[in-house]
Amino acid sequence: MGLCCYLGCLESLVFAVGFVFLLRWTYFLFNTIYRIYFGTQVTTERYGKDSWAVVTGSTDGIGKGLALELASRGFNLVLISRTIEKLNAVAIEAQEAAKKAGKSIHTRVIAFDFSDDTSVQAYQGIKDKIKDLDISILVNNVGYTHQVDRSTKIFFDETTVNCYPIVLLTQQVVSLMTGRKGKKSLIINFSSQAALSPTPGFSSYSATKVFDWYFSNAIAHELRRNDVDVLSVLPGMVATPLTGRKVADIKEVVITPKQCADGVLGNATSGMTHGGAAHEVTAYFSRILVDLIPINLFYRMADSIGKQLQQQFVKLQKADKQKQK
Ligand SMILES: *[C@@H]1O[C@H](CO)[C@@H](O)[C@H](O)[C@H]1NC(C)=O
Ligand SMILES: *[C@@H]1O[C@H](CO)[C@@H](O)[C@H](O)[C@H]1NC(C)=O
Repeated sequence: MGLCCYLGCLESLVFAVGFVFLLRWTYFLFNTIYRIYFGTQVTTERYGKDSWAVVTGSTDGIGKGLALELASRGFNLVLISRTIEKLNAVAIEAQEAAKKAGKSIHTRVIAFDFSDDTSVQAYQGIKDKIKDLDISILVNNVGYTHQVDRSTKIFFDETTVNCYPIVLLTQQVVSLMTGRKGKKSLIINFSSQAALSPTPGFSSYSATKVFDWYFSNAIAHELRRNDVDVLSVLPGMVATPLTGRKVADIKEVVITPKQCADGVLGNATSGMTHGGAAHEVTAYFSRILVDLIPINLFYRMADSIGKQLQQQFVKLQKADKQKQK
């Protein structure tokens, strides 16, 4: 083969590879634009009048934001969280939010600590408390955010809360949903952008989030024939008590629970959403980055970003603790 032909082949190869990547990125871009502008709204028309939404981890942050937004869209609510006082307070807030939107809703609260009781009976017990209701939506929001303190107890709670409920509670609730003949249902699960690649500094956290992601992707296909939409949320930073972040701290990357709830509930059939337009943009570019740079370099960058975030976490959580004193 002459050198000329060799170079010619190389040129075509580079061209072909470049073309495939360009197609891929255009596809991501198309998906992102679709989500931002053309998502399907979560409404009682779609999922059933007088039906119920079950929200776990519903007294703070995104879970609370979603509960209030679902209430104002006319869904009755089952709220599940640790503390009964907080649950009752959110139930009242939800009823007020509904009233403001000209709707009237019912609420039911269940005090349950997902880190504490992992028994089969406990999960069946939750189902017993809701099996008389027409459940159309499950929001698997309960989750454990990365903590500065790295004790065994923290690792245990993180693994338990991020992995058990998404499988066990989903199984209980799906058995109720599949009985709703001819009506659509929706499961919303929470993962994280930390699931997009292994994340040094957040190793156990990012691993549990991949667990969530794989599980949900698989059930999305299993449940397609049962008229169940499955939506995954991979938010970046949301200003919640758990992350210890205030919106003011890092305006470009942090969104509010309310913004996140609106984003989520506008994407019923998108399959996945990042919760806010800002997070769509950062996620889009980080996916391109993953394609472009060698994986070792990517880990090194993730590691140094991880360390910086870690330091900010420490600072913010310390500041919060001092404020509480
Ligand atoms: C939830 O389900 C969607 C739908 O396929 C999936 O893409 C996503 O990864 C799941 N999210 C979580 C947190 O499991
Ligand atoms: C879908 O989610 C994105 C964020 O991921 C959000 O910006 C957008 O507003 C949502 N779409 C709709 C129609 O609400």
